[in-house]
Amino acid sequence: MKRCIRDLVDLKGKRVLLRTDFNVPLDDVGRILDKTRIVAEIPTIKYLVERGAKVIICTHLGRPNGFEISLSLWQISLVLMQYFPGKVQFSEKIIGDQVKKQIESLSEGSILLLENIRFHKEETENDAAFAKELASLADIYVNDAFGVCHRKHASTYGVARLLPNAIGFLVEEEINAIQDAMTNPKSPFVTIFGGLKVEDKIKVLKNIINKADTVLIGGAMAYPFLAAKWISVGLSPCKPESVSIATEILKDAEARGKKILLPIDHIAIRMDDRKKKPFVTDILDKNMVACDIGPKTISLFESEIQKAGQVIWNGPLGKYEDPKFKNGTMAIAQIVAESKCYSIVGGGDSVSAVNKSGKANMISHLSTGGGATMKLLEGNSLPCLDVIQERIV
Ligand code: 3PG
Repeated sequence: MKRCIRDLVDLKGKRVLLRTDFNVPLDDVGRILDKTRIVAEIPTIKYLVERGAKVIICTHLGRPNGFEISLSLWQISLVLMQYFPGKVQFSEKIIGDQVKKQIESLSEGSILLLENIRFHKEETENDAAFAKELASLADIYVNDAFGVCHRKHASTYGVARLLPNAIGFLVEEEINAIQDAMTNPKSPFVTIFGGLKVEDKIKVLKNIINKADTVLIGGAMAYPFLAAKWISVGLSPCKPESVSIATEILKDAEARGKKILLPIDHIAIRMDDRKKKPFVTDILDKNMVACDIGPKTISLFESEIQKAGQVIWNGPLGKYEDPKFKNGTMAIAQIVAESKCYSIVGGGDSVSAVNKSGKANMISHLSTGGGATMKLLEGNSLPCLDVIQERIV
């Protein structure tokens, strides 16, 4: 069990460098589309503020190449100000004398948000001198950036080794929920996968097949599995190497007596139709591209979810970014939320669908992680948590 901020005895007047993951989705003009990751961090910040710490928050946003105005964190500081009126300052600098002076003049229980840490290329290089500079800003390091715990960067890994450290409440909650669901699954354990290419989720699928009773697959991942069963996928994306991976996973599942369910109908378009009007079909002919799961598949998946003791869902079940093909993902979000099972939902689009369904509070655990959640589902530990001290009991 890792040391948590609750185990830190005297925070009053201490400079705490808090690494958060405020990598929020932005629209075309750079406005925040979803504040889930900021809101999820409020309990940790509040705890530190209430105990009189000087809270120095550091986070990344996007993948900038040097300074990019659209990825500046000034607008995130405005969101924080709504939660902590009169207590939040913003620093354009991340390291150096100017920021040190600003920290010195911070009063107890106030917050300084540093500019986007990825404006310095030394961050992703895990540069030792940069990590040392960051460490010189604080007395204690707290990692509450669950979404980026799989990345060995200066602010997530390098600096953690140089200061007394602990995790925040969000990391604690995420780790407990996901590890517990993987080690003590409530049966029947149903997993739902969609989205990305099968190659990106192969390790997760292999590990999940050991633990889950049933795997439901939709979205772009489903077509190589259909092709592996000699079912026509038309012009839907399906690379030969993905089909071989899918064949291997299907064989493995069969040998272990695990069920893998695939779409039995689709919302598709015809490439020879100039208007590309979507329609429902059971069979994909050579001119069709599947873009979402169809109504029969939704019912099939629903019947498995209703029987489940536990559901873990990651990834959209169609081209969620296009409003015409959102329906499958939205329907599954509603079904998972209304089911009585223990439910974990992770991944940007699945979480967004649950939020839009208005039933996010009915999900047992809404994960803020993308890649980090995947690493845990693969059965791996997270390097940035490995460097955090164990709790002394
Ligand atoms: C995420 O959004 O998954 C995390 O913030 C990590 O972002 P990255 O993939 O750019 O490192």
